[in-house]
Amino acid sequence: MKLLVTGGTGYIGSHTCVELLQAGHAVVIADNLSNSSSAVLERIARIAGKAPAFHKLDLRDAQGLQALLQRNPVAAVMHFAGVKAVAESVADPLKYYDNNVNGSLTLFAAMREFGVKRVVFSSSATVYGAQAVSPIGERAATAPANPYGRTKLMIEEMLRDLCTADPEFRAVALRYFNPVGAHVSGLIGEAPQGTPNNLMPYICQVAAGKLPELRVFGKDYPTKDGTAIRDYLHVTDLARGHVQALDYLERVPGFSAVNLGTGRGTSVLEMLQTFERVNQVRVPWKSADRRPGDTVITYADPALAGTALNWRTQRTLEDMCRDAWRWQKSGLAD
Ligand code: WQD
Repeated sequence: MKLLVTGGTGYIGSHTCVELLQAGHAVVIADNLSNSSSAVLERIARIAGKAPAFHKLDLRDAQGLQALLQRNPVAAVMHFAGVKAVAESVADPLKYYDNNVNGSLTLFAAMREFGVKRVVFSSSATVYGAQAVSPIGERAATAPANPYGRTKLMIEEMLRDLCTADPEFRAVALRYFNPVGAHVSGLIGEAPQGTPNNLMPYICQVAAGKLPELRVFGKDYPTKDGTAIRDYLHVTDLARGHVQALDYLERVPGFSAVNLGTGRGTSVLEMLQTFERVNQVRVPWKSADRRPGDTVITYADPALAGTALNWRTQRTLEDMCRDAWRWQKSGLAD
């Protein structure tokens, strides 16, 4: 199948392009390179043995998008393109509504014009908000607590409405929990611009001596070691979920939302200690204040992904730590 992958040079997008190419699909990437580098294209090709096509394009450029779809008839779209920093979305909400919602609106309108009726959408567990009780299933109430999460839910609702308006239109929103790690080759991985917000890239930079120590945001949570708990999953497992979601769309009409997580919770200190043990490195840390907006415990009920997508995570926390460290040491991470 020939697919358009928006945001395909980004962290999740690039790992998904590798899996799509290795599954025999043809891939056309559209990315504005605002938070990624075109250098990743050659590495995707080196891993997969085939190169994706690439077009530098911002999804808000309707004419550019129409020209691309005119030249590249695709059977489906994997939609990753968007901005994704929670704190930034609180400080600059219009940037998030413009990039994420307006960009998606332009994309879906162009898809309708060219008769493209399949979407796999990169959504997020942040649509559930802080009150959700773990393990979180897809029927849990959605109440995003920040503009980033609200943009993800709005785009899901746009897709749901499109499926209602056109029975031939099919969409699945994949709600990611906490993707971490890197491709086992060490050629692609997470490359945050500036100081990382997320736990794993921060740990990697401390272990590499680029940052002095990890601040553990909260050591007084009601958990076994006082630190917050998340559902970390390997980015390659996540990417494979997208390939299986594509197959699912061939079988099931309408709109679906599916959680992608391991179903297991891991604390901040458990992650840090696993990283040190697996990689034989030290990660100095200190307790710090809780981070506003953080939940105490968030992990998935992944049952639907198992039955609907026939998808389960295969890689362990040790794999995540080993692969993240290999990527950090590659010199390509920053
Ligand atoms: C994980 C845990 C922190 C950094 C976010 C987004 C979510 C998704 C994944 C986009 C928390 C603690 C972190 C540090 C720390 N992104 N931590 N010190 O907040 O669960 O989810 O990223 O889709 O939408 O909300 O991930 O990695 O930032 O934090 O103690 O320097 O690590 O407090 O408990 P989070 P995270």
